[in-house]
Amino acid sequence: MTSPLERVVYRSDAVARSEGPVDLSAIVTTSVRNNANSRLTGALALHDGIFVQVLEGGPDALSALMDVISADERHRNVRLLARWPIQSQLFLGWAMVQVDTRTLSHHAAKVVVQTGSGAQVTGVLADLANARLTSLI
Ligand SMILES: Cc1cc2nc3c(=O)[nH]c(=O)nc-3n(C[C@H](O)[C@H](O)[C@H](O)COP(=O)(O)O)c2cc1C
Repeated sequence: MTSPLERVVYRSDAVARSEGPVDLSAIVTTSVRNNANSRLTGALALHDGIFVQVLEGGPDALSALMDVISADERHRNVRLLARWPIQSQLFLGWAMVQVDTRTLSHHAAKVVVQTGSGAQVTGVLADLANARLTSLI
């Protein structure tokens, strides 16, 4: 018996700070450390002031993290797009990967930050994470 796995996708609005833009690398550093401990994986994008995040792992760890994230004052208006059971983690090897959305077409960027379903957003972020992986090799 393998333990159940789920995937969560949400969008939220980044809160502007007086010192400047949100420090994404600080969020990713913390996320990598914590998520690795909780066997969570996923991807995070910040595009046009909108955060989009995919998180995968055990249901209890996911729920606990979503509570913490939802209370984080660096963003607001957290909108859950979808949460569903999965067979395996798509972002395996990435405790949290920051993806670069600047290469996206206008249409694909709109899917990520505005119109796309949880599954569509997951697909685009997975493509971007794989592109990043390829560029590292
Ligand atoms: C958009 C966004 C995404 C985040 N994603 C994660 C995450 O995947 N994992 C995580 O541990 N913290 C994440 N955080 C940070 C948490 O809200 C919280 O600050 C952090 O978990 C606290 O960790 P610490 O107790 O180790 O300092 C995120 C914050 C924001 C604003």
